[in-house]
Parts: sequence; structure tokens; C-alpha cells
Amino acid sequence: MKRSLIDVTDLTVAEIEALIATALDIIADPGRYAHVCDGKKLATLFFEPSTRTRLSFEAAMYELGGHVLSVPGSAVSSAAKGESVADTAKIVSCYADIIAMRHPRDGAALVAAENASIPVINAGDGGHCHPTQTLTDLLTIRREKDRLDGLTLGLCGDLKYGRTVHSLINAMSRYAGTRFVLISPDELQVPGYVYQHLDEAGIPYEVTADLEGALPRLDVLYMTRIQRERFEDAAEYERLKDSYVLTPDKMRLGKPDMIVLHPLPRVNEISVAVDADPRAAYFRQALNGKYIRMALILKLLREAAADLPRRERPDAVTGRHVCRNARCISAVEQELPQVFYPLPGGGCRCKYCESDA
Ligand code: NCD
Repeated sequence: MKRSLIDVTDLTVAEIEALIATALDIIADPGRYAHVCDGKKLATLFFEPSTRTRLSFEAAMYELGGHVLSVPGSAVSSAAKGESVADTAKIVSCYADIIAMRHPRDGAALVAAENASIPVINAGDGGHCHPTQTLTDLLTIRREKDRLDGLTLGLCGDLKYGRTVHSLINAMSRYAGTRFVLISPDELQVPGYVYQHLDEAGIPYEVTADLEGALPRLDVLYMTRIQRERFEDAAEYERLKDSYVLTPDKMRLGKPDMIVLHPLPRVNEISVAVDADPRAAYFRQALNGKYIRMALILKLLREAAADLPRRERPDAVTGRHVCRNARCISAVEQELPQVFYPLPGGGCRCKYCESDA
């Protein structure tokens, strides 16, 4: 099994810094990287809608000199015939050198990585994680603010199902002086494992539903879409969908050097009139996604060629519990073993989706 990227914690801070440095070098001198992946193939398996992530992965591979094999949706792949993620990963390993996979189920990327013989990059697994969006976010913050430490980040919108938020909190928690302001309706707060992580790491954070009240304190405002496709109750989505709309009026409350990020796509949570504000960095952020993915593909292919071992996850217990998260990959793939990490205070956490059992 090769080194994969399932969540940002699979990378050390030093590795993240090296990826950012490579991305900056690519931006400065793209010609030097035009053939570094000649003859290599990236398979993009996207079992959920995507524009930016899939196209930026594919553009990244082409700009490195490589090729792309693409399955543009579950409806036209063997997933529609009932093929398991594990089998798909084994098959694609026969044809490609590296996989970028997006899947609607929490934990699916880990299952793919455990069964592939080539590196797997998680391009979003359900409402769980989205590490390459986070790498994009970090490169953007570095380019816009010139630093990654000592920043107050406001995360606003759907913090429960927004996988980009979970990965960004994980990553920014490792930089000194980070503070979070978690801005959401009560129903859409971050999952318990994220609060536990913040508490254990001693990261200062506040929880509020008040965007206007928080705005003056923020260095970075990270807006997110309410994730309609993850709601079990359509009426609840209708009730919460217009919780936050960032407008030029509200932008007046922000610092002159605050930046606004959004993983995109936006629905209505940032009014188009905000786009003209120089602090609106979300389109620049999308461009950065291509450069950091170039750096990541290059790193993982080099490590695979050098046969470096993948990072092991801690020991886990198998079979004593059943994951209660209906959106977990283990809820639909009956052959998958139920695997849990014991928690220090008792109880345990699903290895795939990280929900507590
Ligand atoms: C995000 C995602 O897919 O989680 N989009 C992206 O990758 N840029 C955010 C979203 O869909 O709201």
C-alpha cells in the first residue's frame, strides 16, 4: 500500500509547508514542472458532483505532463452495478498511477486507500473531510496574508456537514496563535469529534450564531454553502438555507485587511455584489487549487516510486460495535469490517467516519 492523503493529519506541518513551497515555485516557474509526470496517469473517480475539484486535479496532471483517466459519475461506472469501493480501488490500481476520488459516503476514501496499490487522494468523502480543499485554503491564506500563524478565522454556515470546514480546522489548529469563531445556527454546529479535538489541543474558539457581531474580529472569513444533499429532513434544509448572506453592508464591519474565502460553489450565502470587494479572495482561491494539487500529485508519485511506507493509523478494535452514522461507508458496504478506535474517556470512534459509537 502506498502513501495516500485521506485527511490533512496524514501530512506533518513540515510536509504541508513543503507542499506550499513547491506550489509557489510552480507559480513562479511552471515550465520547470511541465514534464515531471510524463507518462503517469491520474484516475479521477468522482461519484458526486464537482466542477472545481475534478477539473483542477485534471488540469494539474496535464500541466505536470501526465494523463488523466476519468469516471465522471457513479451512474456510468460499475458503482451503479453494486461494485464495492474496495473492488473499484483494486481495479483502478491496474490502470493508473494515482487516484483522486470523491464519494458521497463518509470514510469511503480510507477504504479505497486500504485496498489500492497506488496512492489515493481524498477529493471529498461525504460530510467528513476534504484535505485538498484545505491545502488550497492554506496556500491562499499564505499568499494573501503572508503567514499562517496568529490568525483569527471565522467559519460560517454549515459547519456540521461542511467537510471543508472539518479539514481546515484540523490543519489550522496546528499553527500557533490560531483562534476560531464558529458561526452557525445551533443545528449546524461542528460534529462532536471536532469539538473534542479543539478542546484536547487547547485551541481557543467561540461558538456563535451572530455573523455581524463576529466580523470585526476576523482576519479570515470562511463562508460555506448549506449542504442540501446531506440533510435527512428536507424541511430542515428549507428552514436553515438562508441563515447567512454576506452583503457589502456586512463587509463594512470587517477589517480592511480581512479576506473572504469560500470553497465554492456558492448558492446565495455571498451576494454577487461582494465579488468586487478586493477582500473577496474566493476566485483567487480556486486558481490556487490547481497549483497545490500539482505539488501534491508530484509528492505522492515520487514517494510511491521510492516505495516509502504509508503512515500507519493507530491500532483499532474490530467488531465490538456497529457504526450508528447512516452516512458512513460501513452502513452500506456489508463486507467492510466495523473498526473502532477506543476513546480515552471510554466509548469508541468509527475508523472510517470518526463518529462516536
Ligand atoms: C466543496 C465540497 O465539495 O465539499 N466544494 C469544493 O470542493 N470546492 C464545498 C461545497 O460543495 O459546498
